[in-house]
Amino acid sequence: MTLISLVYVSFATRPMSEQDLRALLEECRTNNQRLGVTGMLLYRNGFFIQALEGEEEVVEKLFSEIAKDPRHQDVLRVYKAPIVVRSFPNWTMGFNHIGDQHHLDMEGYSDFLENPKAEYFTQQPSRAQMLLESFRSETFF
Ligand SMILES: Cc1cc2nc3c(=O)[nH]c(=O)nc-3n(C[C@H](O)[C@H](O)[C@H](O)COP(=O)(O)O)c2cc1C
Repeated sequence: MTLISLVYVSFATRPMSEQDLRALLEECRTNNQRLGVTGMLLYRNGFFIQALEGEEEVVEKLFSEIAKDPRHQDVLRVYKAPIVVRSFPNWTMGFNHIGDQHHLDMEGYSDFLENPKAEYFTQQPSRAQMLLESFRSETFF
């Protein structure tokens, strides 16, 4: 049994209202609790980035379900790596908006805020980890 972290990015098919996001999170948390999955979902102007942590088989199966979800498209895996400890042990799925005021000392980050693109993370997966981990201690709702 291997504990892994899997990170992907995607784009909402339609803009998500706060109500849409709350409904999505409720669904995530009920399932993830049962599956022993933890993680963090970030959203900005239609752009999603999500970390899923748990047993490899469970996370892979969940990810293949998530990838088929019509609420988003262009689902692209950024990385998958074995982990010893979870980065988000407290969240069955944490959630945050990446706001204009969120600062991160990372090359190209302000361009990313202007125009979120998958390549920003696929070219350098450690950026995804840095961004997600900068929210590890908070959840918006
Ligand atoms: C951006 C995004 C992230 C999601 N994350 C999760 C998740 O972490 N856990 C989960 O169970 N479902 C997640 N879903 C929902 C799944 O795609 C799917 O709707 C859900 O697993 C179906 O659950 P059900 O079979 O219990 O109805 C996500 C969907 C989207 C669009």
